[in-house]
Amino acid sequence: MKLECRNISFAYKKNSPILNDISISVPSDKVIGLIGDSGSGKSTLCKILSGYLPKYDGNILIDNKPIDSKNYNPVQLIFQHPEKTMNPKWKMKNILEESWVPSKELRDRFGISDDWLKRWPNELSGGELQRFSILRSLNPKTKFIIADEISTMLDAVTQVQIWEVLLNYAKKNNIGILAVSHDKSLLKVVSDEILYFNELNKK
Ligand SMILES: Nc1ncnc2c1ncn2[C@@H]1O[C@H](COP(=O)(O)OP(=O)(O)O)[C@@H](O)[C@H]1O
Ligand SMILES: [Mg+2]
Repeated sequence: MKLECRNISFAYKKNSPILNDISISVPSDKVIGLIGDSGSGKSTLCKILSGYLPKYDGNILIDNKPIDSKNYNPVQLIFQHPEKTMNPKWKMKNILEESWVPSKELRDRFGISDDWLKRWPNELSGGELQRFSILRSLNPKTKFIIADEISTMLDAVTQVQIWEVLLNYAKKNNIGILAVSHDKSLLKVVSDEILYFNELNKK
């Protein structure tokens, strides 16, 4: 499979374009790195790719077909700040299992302790929460992951662990990844190919 954005242009406000005619292709068997300066529009592109911003010019296609917005979106976004995507009044078990129910074996592989399932989001660290948000996004219907600075706020050891388990899972299950970061050394390690946002975003 192949996820493509073709000729995407977008502005939050009239006459202040953020994205100009951007085209990217992400195959299922690859990790594509996307590097760019802070404020350049990377997260905006991520939101468009995963269906969070409906009004844009251009096309988002999987195998040349538009994504049906009525069904589960096979393109899932993982954010930099997991706590912002979690209901503070839900226990972690409910947060994890909102979209699908991962096995204990998978929870273990993602380094999620059984004990954490009973806690509230504010009782876990950023790295622990990010493990939940990654596993939560890997519903068997997910075909592509948009990873928007997912390890930026984590320490080096946690960063390596999280990427290792995500990359392994994606490889085994044929999930394509767009890995977005301002950190070139990280992208060199995790990506098959690196794209430069400033070169794609024609001004
Ligand atoms: N909801 C919004 N409304 C208006 N402007 C926004 C909104 N979200 C982001 N922006 C602006 O769009 C630009 C690109 O932001 P963003 O896509 O978050 O960049 P990056 O992820 O590369 O740091 C920034 O100037 C930011 O202030
Ligand atoms: Mg961003």
